[in-house]
Amino acid sequence: MPVIDGDRLVRDLEMLRTFGQCGNGVVRQSLSEVDMESRRWLVERMTNAGLDARIDGIGTVFGRSRNPGKALLVGSHTDTQPTGGWLDGTLGVMYGLETVRAFAESRETRDLAVDVASWIDEEGTFFGLLGSKMFCGLVGEGDLDGASSADGTTLHAALRDAGLEGRPLERCVPDRYRAYMEAHIEQGPWLEEEKRRIGVVTGIVGIRDVSVRFEGQQNHAGTTPMARRRDAGAALVTFATRVHEVFAAHAGPRSVWTIGNIRLEPGAASIIPGRAWLNLQYRDADEARMDRFEDHVRDLVRESNARGLVAVSMDATKDRTAAALMDADLQRHLEAAAECHAPGAWMSMPSAAVHDAQNLAQVLPSAMLFVPSKGGISHAFEEDTSAEDIVLGCQVFADAVASVLLEGR
Ligand code: GLV
Ligand code: MN
Ligand code: MN
Repeated sequence: MPVIDGDRLVRDLEMLRTFGQCGNGVVRQSLSEVDMESRRWLVERMTNAGLDARIDGIGTVFGRSRNPGKALLVGSHTDTQPTGGWLDGTLGVMYGLETVRAFAESRETRDLAVDVASWIDEEGTFFGLLGSKMFCGLVGEGDLDGASSADGTTLHAALRDAGLEGRPLERCVPDRYRAYMEAHIEQGPWLEEEKRRIGVVTGIVGIRDVSVRFEGQQNHAGTTPMARRRDAGAALVTFATRVHEVFAAHAGPRSVWTIGNIRLEPGAASIIPGRAWLNLQYRDADEARMDRFEDHVRDLVRESNARGLVAVSMDATKDRTAAALMDADLQRHLEAAAECHAPGAWMSMPSAAVHDAQNLAQVLPSAMLFVPSKGGISHAFEEDTSAEDIVLGCQVFADAVASVLLEGR
């Protein structure tokens, strides 16, 4: 079976970290200059590993195996949050690259076909999980027309500036593939808490974002009597409190919701805000409960409008991703490899973070492996995993990929 080179793997992860490094973490949002530099570096690394590699028309880096037979597709992402960790996404892409290199060095595996992808914009700078959605045919051109970053740059402009406009897109040809597999840091506390070193993912939550706008009347914060105010900021604060009350009353065991961004305009101490805006995100494994949450937001918009002072409207964006179950047979391969290299130190677990694998699961049998995150911290510069766990996870992953492909022969 393949033997991965742990030093080579960690060296490449450290090298990738230098693109946008900020302390222990990384700032490398999709399609930024530094992100494009890192993509060109990745194409070079993939090419050196024998893959036919390129950046496609949406920004995904795709390395295609030249070996014959059904291929296994491995992927994750290399873009980051505005303040990102160094392993979120990069771990899975580098596991794919190291798997290809280790396969080439073993007689038993050197003819096996493994393609590797770094899907663009998993983190949603413009449109969450964009690359995998595009590859799987889950978004059309029209869905992307309004896509823009927080600073107002449209996706179309960013693609043009990155020199990607007009390039061909990679599209999934399901007949080419036996399966999709992705490795990732856990980004939560459970593996560490349970003293396990490997997680085999059973399913992934769905995610939805709603943006809510408040239109009042901007006015003087000293001279305007309280009874005459149409304060968009006050309406937002009341609305946010009601969200937490209503969602808590209807939550399931794995429901989570976050108001992660608010804006008051113009945003000065002596001005009553005339406009305000918030982003509400919620996640659940149960799509029916997510539908009900969306209805609750609609009800709260009506409740807020009924007060008659501030006009409230919502936009349930097209940027949403469905929950998915992981393939049972692929989980069996991951479990066997985990038991071989970490006997008794693995567990099955759901994912509360979203991943490209849930899009791939709509077109291919798909599975995921987790390694522990120190202190359960991610989407933060402190994010980390021990080198021992990084290396162990890659060996388990490579073994599972080999056993899936060899079983299919
Ligand atoms: C992935 O980055 C997530 O937010 O779950
Ligand atoms: Mn992330
Ligand atoms: Mn990620």
